[in-house]
Amino acid sequence: MIAGQSLERTVITADAAGTRALAAALAAAARPGDMISLVGDLGAGKTQFAKGFGAGLGIGDTIVSPSFVLMAEYHGRLPLFHVDLYRLADAAEALAGGLIDDRQAEGVTLVEWAERLADALADERLDILIDGGGDEPRRITLRAGGAGYARYLDLLPATAGTASADTPALTAGEER
Ligand SMILES: Nc1ncnc2c1ncn2[C@@H]1O[C@H](COP(=O)(O)OP(=O)(O)O)[C@@H](O)[C@H]1O
Ligand SMILES: [Mg+2]
Repeated sequence: MIAGQSLERTVITADAAGTRALAAALAAAARPGDMISLVGDLGAGKTQFAKGFGAGLGIGDTIVSPSFVLMAEYHGRLPLFHVDLYRLADAAEALAGGLIDDRQAEGVTLVEWAERLADALADERLDILIDGGGDEPRRITLRAGGAGYARYLDLLPATAGTASADTPALTAGEER
């Protein structure tokens, strides 16, 4: 995160379809070389987000959790590189395994359990932080690391998500 350029917005999604729809809408902002980290507990919805993002890129293939391979590649409007670090011991292992690949400059890279890369992850990225589990609604926070990623946040409608009495439809926050 670059000091002074932090920008965050939070959206609530009521169900998995809502998370996929949000991700599909965000895919319209995707540009070659983008790095998106997906952070949240097991079952939070990181793979659901990846599925929706892929659909938004026009990828016809079903995106599944790439738990048994480090990275799966799909082809849509842009290539999508879907990485899952769940079973990875440490960042060194990921880097040795070629996680950071020249071809990623041509597509979008989505990384589940991106926090396991720690300092090896570029500061210039979009973080998707998913909070919640089970049948609960999810609080999905988009955090742009660097002004270049603010275009994703700009895509969010002024009112998004599903309104209910105790969960505001959209809580927008901006930090400087
Ligand atoms: N609002 C929601 N957003 C995403 N997933 C949800 C939501 N509500 C319920 N779910 C369910 O939670 C599970 C999320 O699984 P998954 O995307 O594989 O999680 P992760 O990849 O973070 O481990 C799915 O079974 C999905 O149907
Ligand atoms: Mg997953």
